[in-house]
Amino acid sequence: MATQAPPQGGVGRVKSLDAILATAEKKSLKRSLGAFQLTLLGIGAVIGTGIFVLTATAAQKAGPGMMVSFIIAGIVCALAALCYSELASMVPVAGSAYTYSYAVMGELMAWLVGWALILEYALGASAVAVGWSGHVVPVLDSIGIHIPHALTVGPQIELGFLKGGEAGGIINLPAVLVTALVTTLLVIGTKESATFNAVLVLIKVSALTLFVLVTVPMIAGHTPNFHPFTPRGWGSVLGGDGTGVLGAAASIFFAYVGFDAVSTAAEETKNPQRNVPIGLIASLGICTIFYLLVAGGVIGSYGAQPLIDPATGKAFIEGSPELYASSACQAANAPLVCSKEALAYVMRQVSNPTFGTIIGLAATIALPSVVLLMMYGQTRVFFVMARDGLLPERLSAVHPKFRTPHVVTIVTGVFVAIAAAFLPVGTLADYSNAGTLFAFAAVSVGVMILRRTDPNRQRPFRTPALFLIAPLSIAGCAVLFLSLNVQSQLLFVTWAAIGLVLYFSYGYRHSHVARGITDVGELDEGVPPSSVAPMPGAPAPGSPNE
Ligand code: ALA
Repeated sequence: MATQAPPQGGVGRVKSLDAILATAEKKSLKRSLGAFQLTLLGIGAVIGTGIFVLTATAAQKAGPGMMVSFIIAGIVCALAALCYSELASMVPVAGSAYTYSYAVMGELMAWLVGWALILEYALGASAVAVGWSGHVVPVLDSIGIHIPHALTVGPQIELGFLKGGEAGGIINLPAVLVTALVTTLLVIGTKESATFNAVLVLIKVSALTLFVLVTVPMIAGHTPNFHPFTPRGWGSVLGGDGTGVLGAAASIFFAYVGFDAVSTAAEETKNPQRNVPIGLIASLGICTIFYLLVAGGVIGSYGAQPLIDPATGKAFIEGSPELYASSACQAANAPLVCSKEALAYVMRQVSNPTFGTIIGLAATIALPSVVLLMMYGQTRVFFVMARDGLLPERLSAVHPKFRTPHVVTIVTGVFVAIAAAFLPVGTLADYSNAGTLFAFAAVSVGVMILRRTDPNRQRPFRTPALFLIAPLSIAGCAVLFLSLNVQSQLLFVTWAAIGLVLYFSYGYRHSHVARGITDVGELDEGVPPSSVAPMPGAPAPGSPNE
């Protein structure tokens, strides 16, 4: 439904919070989630490629110091999560950080945040798809199905920002196929039920527990593995190569992304003031503890020192073609940093190979749901941006039969598949992180602005000590962003510049706010609520889990 409002000029035009909230009221999902379900939702969205795969990347960047990297990234995420929750509970509608920014900081900022979220969600989904590929290939191998190497990795590319791949690689076919499968599921309106999410959480947590139980006791006999603790230093902010403890934190930050599933479920939460922070802190806390134990187990049982290029005497670039081609990586007992399925690999090396297969299988089963959650997030952001007139409105078309936003879903699927086909997981995760860190920082700014400009509005959840937490969150995001490698920072700047050109050549003129059109319909306009809301992983209204 659309109504007329006075047209607004300028890039600072805001979408009225009241109009956005009218949307939420129309949608009015039943408040059914408790702290426990929120925690499961968070863990389901968070545990994925980050821990199962990027542990190897972190080891090449920081060695055993990656344990500190996990702590730093976890703290930054927790700070951002607290800020996210206040806005999510006040503006509980689709579009997450994009929608909050539109109401608080105006259209240009909202556009930039939405544009950055494409990096977070779409490239994040690509990263998880590539991580999945790294697991499914050995699993298939173990049952006699051999996919030629050339079809399991992207080509060796060196085109400005786009670096990586492996000698002999053509395309990462498994990553493309899982993306196609997830796209199809989203088009036909598949959502994870709370029960399905709980089963996947159980699988992931059991796999990590098995890993911890087997490897952590080995630490005692291998304490030298922790020395040197920071073989590549602490890292340098800005202009660095994205290594050291801070560089690894900036990459491993990916392992925590996804908690916004909890914030965006705020409107479906009973007593959000109490349950949202419990859900966020519990899921992040549980993940952080697991990650630390897993990292400790990896180092203590197998070792996690970076691999040095004998030709130059310097450490290889993580995930680079040269690293994989090195004689050390070709050897039977290759270091951790050569593996694309870090935890399964370590398990196979230090214990019963069947345990390694179990870990690999757990990741193979569970990672597609993380791809689904991230692609779902992307389609909803695209959908809302198109519905606001900032992207062509054709994108917000709803499928007549499935009642899903099929056009944006297919566009998203194609984008995710192309990136997954050709780029390595570490590169994709770093690019995704750049976008996420920008969006988190924007939300942290927005929440402070809204406290000042609209202090009396009801806040189902209030961030405690906001004027301390939010600046710390912004500073944390800035430090991590500046600790990424230059390539990722430049990609982000270029991406933002392209976004600005598109905004001024299209969105600025087509914006509904500019034209005085106020949409009060939510995603479910013309779409039955059951097919578009709530978040995957949360119980659908009327589901037996309520
Ligand atoms: N945190 C999610 C993962 O590691 C995105 O896969």
